[in-house]
Amino acid sequence: MSKRRILVTSALPYANGELHLGYMLETIQTDIWVRFQKMMGNECHYVCADDAHGTPIMLKANEMGIEPETLIEQVKIRHQADLDDFHIDFSQYHSTHSEENREISELIYNRLNDSGYIKKRVISQAFDPEKEMFLPDRYIKGECPKCGADDQYGDNCEVCGATYSTTEIKNARSVISGAAPIEKDSEHYFFDLPQFEKELKNWTKAGHLQEQVSNKLAEWFEQGLQQWDISRDSPYFGFKIPGTEDKYFYVWLDAPIGYMASFKKLCDNSELNFDEFFNKGSDAELYHFIGKDIVYFHALFWPATLMGSDFRTPNAVFAHGFLSVNGQKMSKSRGTFIKARTYLDNLDPEYLRYYYASKLTAKIDDIDLNLEDFKQRVNSDLVGKVVNIASRSASFVVKKYDKELSSDCVDKDLYKEFVETGSDIAKHYEARNFNQAMRLIMKLADKANQYIDEKKPWQLAKVEGSEREVHEITSLAINLFKVLMTYLKPVLPEMAKRSEEFLNIESLAWPDIETPLTSHKINNFKPLMTRIEDDQIDQMVESSRV
Ligand code: 2FM
Ligand code: ZN
Repeated sequence: MSKRRILVTSALPYANGELHLGYMLETIQTDIWVRFQKMMGNECHYVCADDAHGTPIMLKANEMGIEPETLIEQVKIRHQADLDDFHIDFSQYHSTHSEENREISELIYNRLNDSGYIKKRVISQAFDPEKEMFLPDRYIKGECPKCGADDQYGDNCEVCGATYSTTEIKNARSVISGAAPIEKDSEHYFFDLPQFEKELKNWTKAGHLQEQVSNKLAEWFEQGLQQWDISRDSPYFGFKIPGTEDKYFYVWLDAPIGYMASFKKLCDNSELNFDEFFNKGSDAELYHFIGKDIVYFHALFWPATLMGSDFRTPNAVFAHGFLSVNGQKMSKSRGTFIKARTYLDNLDPEYLRYYYASKLTAKIDDIDLNLEDFKQRVNSDLVGKVVNIASRSASFVVKKYDKELSSDCVDKDLYKEFVETGSDIAKHYEARNFNQAMRLIMKLADKANQYIDEKKPWQLAKVEGSEREVHEITSLAINLFKVLMTYLKPVLPEMAKRSEEFLNIESLAWPDIETPLTSHKINNFKPLMTRIEDDQIDQMVESSRV
């Protein structure tokens, strides 16, 4: 098969908060898929950025007494450090507050406007007379019009579950100043989504979306598409709309354009050609990994924005479910709202990469991080099964055979079975059924351990004249370990590096599994991964509790 050209993105995290294990689920999922594509010999680029615009970021910076530009710079440094430490291997990590993004956002807007897809009309909205700013729903609180509970958000009641409009809430006040909001008119710019209904319906049915997502979309189509408000009034932290004095692009307009901007930055610093990936008719593949909460933006607004501005549309949008911890929504009081950094302070990132891989499917079902199961699964699968194959065989080869593997593979059928399972493992990786890939890999690991258990090289070694047999058994075990680590490399890049060092090879490469290493010198065995201890988890939970 010829080499594919692929561009992949993860959703852009907001630049006003720390990353948590829910977001790591997404980047780990994407990173595994990208690393797998590269191992298959495909050209694969992975871009992301901080989502830097919008009211919450502006207000947070105000609160801290700094400029939004300063806030987003500081947060970006911390985000990148977290992502790096989880071994997320971006080709480019950028910011939506960048010149590239301004340029492409303006270009897209101008094209949409020139083609008649932008409509203007005056709307009335809640306005904070003290702060002199329009108030998004979440910045208004008051008493629920249904049950009377106080301190409820402007659009829904957490006590009785009622939903309502901000005008219905009693004794409404601005969360920012405490003042009672007034209604004020302002002209807004709308993207005329209904004009794309037919094209979008076709697109959503053409295999670009998961089944559960297309079903959801069918419901939205039934309810009818609405024009999308893409402007916000000053004060706002974002890009000014061309031809206006005080109107800004709503953060959700320029956020997905940030995918393009990040890739543009990569192109500007390399030989890559932006147009080859984004022009209509491009044969490069484009995939967006997202959480299921932002499907509306990615499966409706985003393709329509691209259609209306004459760019190509994505090959697919891959949504995943939410993360729960110990079966419940992440909670600060239970210590299960775990920040990426708190995890990293206590545990090896590859434990989590493996655990997520063992649970991830191509569906949008939620995923539970059960901390007890996490410990047991990692200890039993990675330390107890995979590392064990190498650790129990290495000492023989190192001490008795001068670190050299045998000249022949003693059980060709067993080795062949390991190699042949590779095509199914690859299919599961490709289809994002990482759980199935991990299941097959662990089944093989069980087989390798059974093989060693049956052959008992530690007993044979005591029998005179069995040197050659012991050499061949332990050499085969090490070769089986090598195949397994090749399969696990997209998930465990660092453990793979340590294994490469131990095996004394340049790189664990997928095509190399065909041939076992023979008469090849390995290095001394050093522990490849240690067990998770209870107190590491306890400490992480304790540090997360507020
Ligand atoms: O929901 C969020 O966290 C957004 N910051 C995701 C943006 S993804 C893309 F559209 F930029
Ligand atoms: Zn209520």
